[in-house]
Amino acid sequence: MLNSLFRKKPVEQALENDPEQAGSHSLHKVLTTRDLTFFGIAAIIGAGSFSSMGEACFKGGPGVVFLFIICAVACGFTAMCYAEFASRVPASGSAYTYAYVSFGELFAWIIGWALLMEYSIGNIYVAFSWSGYFTNLLEGVGVRMPEWLTCNYRTAAAMYEQNISSEGMLAWMTAPKVGSLRIIFDLPAVVANVLITALVYVGVKESRNASNLMVMLKLAVIVLVIVVGAFYVDIDNWTPFMPNGFSGVMGGVAAVFFAFIGFDAVSTLAEESNDPQRDLPKGMIYSLIICTIVYIALALVLTGMVTYAQLGVSDPLAEVFKIREVKWMLYIVSLVAVVAMTSVLLVFQMGQPRIWMSMSRDGLMPPRFASIHPKFKTPGFATIVTGLVVGIPLFFTDEKFVLDFTSIGTLFAFVLVCGGVLMLPPKEKTAGKFNLPYVNSKFIFPLMVVVAAALLFTFNPGFVSNTFIINSETAAANVPMIIFFIVCMVLAVFSFLKNFSLIPVLGVVSCCYLLTGMALSNWIWFTVWLVIGVVIYFLYGFRKSKLAVNTN
Ligand code: ALA
Repeated sequence: MLNSLFRKKPVEQALENDPEQAGSHSLHKVLTTRDLTFFGIAAIIGAGSFSSMGEACFKGGPGVVFLFIICAVACGFTAMCYAEFASRVPASGSAYTYAYVSFGELFAWIIGWALLMEYSIGNIYVAFSWSGYFTNLLEGVGVRMPEWLTCNYRTAAAMYEQNISSEGMLAWMTAPKVGSLRIIFDLPAVVANVLITALVYVGVKESRNASNLMVMLKLAVIVLVIVVGAFYVDIDNWTPFMPNGFSGVMGGVAAVFFAFIGFDAVSTLAEESNDPQRDLPKGMIYSLIICTIVYIALALVLTGMVTYAQLGVSDPLAEVFKIREVKWMLYIVSLVAVVAMTSVLLVFQMGQPRIWMSMSRDGLMPPRFASIHPKFKTPGFATIVTGLVVGIPLFFTDEKFVLDFTSIGTLFAFVLVCGGVLMLPPKEKTAGKFNLPYVNSKFIFPLMVVVAAALLFTFNPGFVSNTFIINSETAAANVPMIIFFIVCMVLAVFSFLKNFSLIPVLGVVSCCYLLTGMALSNWIWFTVWLVIGVVIYFLYGFRKSKLAVNTN
C-alpha cells in the first residue's frame, strides 16, 4: 500500500508523447521563447499590481518594496527549479508532472490539487478585480450599472451586517429579491469568465495572438504610469519607511506574492513549445526578471505619490491619480488594468485544463479531461470545466478569501517543486539546454543558518523570545515560524550529509519563509482543502492510476 502511494512515474514515461495516442489530435507546436516570455508576463502582471498591491502598501507602507524583493528572490529560486524540471521533463502538467517523477503519485496528486488554487481560484480574484476597473471605465463614459450587478454577495452581506456605508451596502439595499433571496452578483466578472473560456476553447494560436498584443500594451502603459507618476513623487511620503514595522510589511505577503504568481504557468505549455528544453526555462526567467523590475519601480512610485494610508483600496493605481488630480491618467490606467487582467485570465484559464489533461492521462482524473477537441486542438472538456470552477464561486465568495487561499496553495506547490529538485539524480551538463548551476550547500547553508540565528539573537532578542517562549496567547500564531526554524535546521543537517544543491535549498527556505506570513485561519482552510483532495485521491485516482494498472 505504502509503496503504491509513492509509486513514481519514470521520466521516460512522462516524456512519452501522449498526444501520439491522440494521433492527429495532438496540440499545435507553435510557441517560441518570445511567446513564452510574453505568456509569463501576461500571467504575472495583473490583479496583483493593479489591485492587491494597494492592500500590501496600506499594511506595510513604502517598506513593502522589501517584500517585493523577498518574493522576487523566492520566485527566482523557484523559477530555476521549475526550469531544471522543465528541461528534464518537458511535458505538460507543470509542477504536477515534476512531482510525479520525483516524489511519487500521492505528492503529485496533492500538488495538482494545490495548483487548482493557483490557476482556478486565483482567476476568481482576477475576475473580481477586472470587474472593478471595468466598472470604473464604464463610469468614465457615463454608463452606471446598478450596484447589485457589480458587487459580490458576500461583500454586500458583510457591509450590511457591519453597517458600513459602501457600494456593498447599497447593493444590499437596492437588490431585487426572489422570495427572501437577494439577487446580488458581479455581472462583469461572470461575463469576462464566459468570454475567456470561449477564447481558450477555440485555440492556443488565437489565444497566443490575443495575449501577445495585450502584453505589449500593458507593458507600454505601465512604463507610462511609472514615468508620469515619478513626477508626482514626494519623497516625504517615504518616511516612515516601515510605519508598522517589519511585521506590517509581512502582513502584505499574500497580496505581494499573488503579484508574482504566473511565471510557472509557462511550464504548462511544454507540448506547444517549439523547443521546450531550451525555451521554457528562458521564458520563465526572462518574464520574472522583467516583472520584478516593473514591480519595484511601481511600488516606489505609488508609495511616493501619496501616503501609504491612502492606498488601502481595490484600485490603487487609479486612486493615486485621482488623489493627485491627473484625470487623463485615470482612464488610461483603468483601460490598461482591464487589458492586463484579461491576459492573466487567459493564461491561467489555459494552464488549468492542461494540468488536468496530464492528470487524466495518468489515470488520476476521468479520461474526458484528456480529450482534445478534433477541430480546435485544445482540451475542450477540461476547458469548460475550468470555466465552471472559476465561474460558479464568483456567485458566493469574495476577494480577500480567494487571495489568501491562492497564495498559500501556490507557495505550498513551490516548496514541493524546489524540494523535488533535491530528489532528482545528478545529470550530465548538456550544451544548449538549461543546467541548474550546482553549488554545494554542505557548509554554506548550515553556516547561513548559524549566522542568521546569531544575528537574530544579537539584534532582535525580543523576536526570539516572543516566538519560542511558549505562551498560550501567542502559541498558535507562532506555529508557522517555529515550523520554519525546524525546516531550516533539518535542511542544514541534510545539506551537510547529502551535499544538496544550494539553489533548490534556498528555494525551499525562501518559500517556507513567505508561508510564515500567512494567517492561521488560512492554514486551517488550506488543511481542510488538502484533506478533501486526499479523500478524492483514494476514492478515484489511487485505483484508476495507470501505474496501478501496470503494477497489478
Ligand atoms: N500574478 C497574477 C496577477 O497579479 C496572478 O494577477
